[in-house]
Amino acid sequence: MSEPRATAVLRPREAGDLPRCAAVLRAVHKADGYPRNWPADPAAWLATAGQCAALVAVLDGEIVGHAALTPGTARDTAAARWAARTGRDAAETAEVGRLFVAPTARGLGLGARLLAAAGAAAHERGLHPVLCVRDGDRAAVALYRRAGWTDTGTAREDWPDGPVTLRCFAGPARADEPA
Ligand SMILES: CC(C)(COP(=O)(O)OP(=O)(O)OC[C@H]1O[C@@H](n2cnc3c(N)ncnc32)[C@H](O)[C@@H]1OP(=O)(O)O)[C@@H](O)C(=O)NCCC(=O)NCCS
Repeated sequence: MSEPRATAVLRPREAGDLPRCAAVLRAVHKADGYPRNWPADPAAWLATAGQCAALVAVLDGEIVGHAALTPGTARDTAAARWAARTGRDAAETAEVGRLFVAPTARGLGLGARLLAAAGAAAHERGLHPVLCVRDGDRAAVALYRRAGWTDTGTAREDWPDGPVTLRCFAGPARADEPA
């Protein structure tokens, strides 16, 4: 008889998790081209300054997924888009990013759980979750739509290696958030 598979858990990222997170990111980069440009220091890219939350998904004792949350500013495309739509301040948002799941752990609902947990972490801070994704990242776009996030349109950005089309999303509102 086969052993039942351990249940995946989400928990806050710890500093000691970064090497394993970077190894998972490496596999994601090879499989999906995310991130488009491999960072010189992947641990620093994962743990950017100013993050207000970061989570990992652990399956069978191994980290297999990651998401982070950063306070939004008017300079951030998704936050600025949300502010323009709602007439509110971009500083009332938090941007979900650095979201990925190991190719070996896909289709188990972990991406959806990481997204929901990051959104809840934004709500706990009184912030509205938003994000941007490269328009060609089809699995991610499908995930955000499936999770009920609102597509707030595309934006063109000039990255150092060329232009990119980003698709912006706004997450669900807090129960006590003004309409
Ligand atoms: C996007 C990503 C995180 C999804 O992770 P995952 O754990 O496989 O996703 P889930 O199992 O939670 O899927 C939830 C829903 O997303 C959608 N989805 C996920 N992967 C999909 C795919 N390859 N094609 C179509 N829809 C997909 C489905 O609607 C799915 O729900 P369903 O299975 O009930 O239909 C993962 O594919 C990934 O790491 N991609 C590369 C990194 C990336 O693009 N990150 C986004 C940066 S902004």
